[in-house]
Amino acid sequence: MKHILVTGGSGFIGTNFIHYVRTHRPDWHVVNLDALTYAGNPANHRHLENDPGYTFIHGSICDAPLLKQMFDTYQFDGVFHFAAESHVDRSIAGPEVFVNTNVTGTFRLLEAGLAHVRKHPDADFRFVHVSTDEVYGSLYPDDPAFTETTPYDPSSPYSASKAASDHFVKAWYRTYGLPVVVTNCSNNYGPFQFPEKLIPLMILNILDKKSLPVYGKGINVRDWLYVADHCDALVRAFENGENGETYNIGGGEEKTNLEVVETICDLMDDKTGNPESSSRERITFVTDRPGHDLRYAINPDKAVEKIGYKASHTFEQALSATIDWYLVNMDWVRSVQTGAYQEWIRSHYESSPS
Ligand code: NAD
Ligand code: DAU
Repeated sequence: MKHILVTGGSGFIGTNFIHYVRTHRPDWHVVNLDALTYAGNPANHRHLENDPGYTFIHGSICDAPLLKQMFDTYQFDGVFHFAAESHVDRSIAGPEVFVNTNVTGTFRLLEAGLAHVRKHPDADFRFVHVSTDEVYGSLYPDDPAFTETTPYDPSSPYSASKAASDHFVKAWYRTYGLPVVVTNCSNNYGPFQFPEKLIPLMILNILDKKSLPVYGKGINVRDWLYVADHCDALVRAFENGENGETYNIGGGEEKTNLEVVETICDLMDDKTGNPESSSRERITFVTDRPGHDLRYAINPDKAVEKIGYKASHTFEQALSATIDWYLVNMDWVRSVQTGAYQEWIRSHYESSPS
């Protein structure tokens, strides 16, 4: 049995990853370390409460003594590092926590991993650092997609903090020989995504008959990746990747934000019996995000060739499945729309005129 540390396993991708691993790697014992910020929800794993293959620890990746104790107790074979502050708009409104969690937290985790490897030099250990395509900055419409050698050029406090964390991870490989793999992926969507991000925000605003705030002209392009494909890629990177290497993971589904929102409108009208096109009428163009990257696109060739990755979901089908998940999980939705969530929505959108 392998003991695997998943950080941030109560957030969106971490939750999906733990569910994926309990199904596809049932011989792994997963230890989820999560600080349960506004983005973390322990109820996501309620069905695993009596599962001996799952352990939850409430704590922070910034807590060095806790990390040491966890490594000593579980002798981890691998780390999947998801824990982060992840929302670009929040990083613009309040960047400091992004430095603390994404940079200092990653540093503390690297130190704990290195101390473990030094104590157990023969251990077969690997640290998978889950990063983002945003570290590469913005593309023009005709630019080639990001490869693993595209220079880093982050725009937001969030992407700067992720870029810094990537550099620390690579430095711990080059300087200390810590076995690491870095993955940089595009925009994920799927079940359990916190409704501050574009896709769930739009689904829920349609349900609640609110306006649909599209930044600027809605021409920014993202490369949408279904979260299950991402989880599959991460297991492949852990098992088939080479230490010190980066793998770019994309969905191959470039869409403008307006295209995404209009598709959600049409699917929602169809599923909920709204009059045709009625949701599109709620689209409202609002003040653009400062430093808003125009386009992200991933060239996944290296991941395809070296770790056997291939996205197996198409955007329309997986988006439809995602909407269905939100429609049948309204209890989950309402439980995460807490006072803190309402406060963010008020402070961010009510000061953002059309
Ligand atoms: P999320 O915001 O949904 O979840 C983050 C999780 O980390 C939460 O459960 C939160 O409680 C936890 N956390 C925060 N600070 C912590 C700390 N100090 N110690 C322990 N846990 C802490 O994020 P997500 O969308 O699931 O993203 C996961 C990772 O994937 C992040 O590193 C993010 O940068 C990266 N990523 C996300 C996307 C995307 O589209 N969502 C795309 C590319 C990369
Ligand atoms: O590219 C990977 C990144 O994708 C991850 O690293 C981040 O953690 C994740 O949050 C996501 O970042 P984005 O900024 O691209 O995601 P978000 O859902 O916030 O926004 C997607 C696009 O939609 C972006 O161009 C901004 C726009 N948008 C977003 C919101 C919340 C709107 O037009 N209106 C909105 O209300």
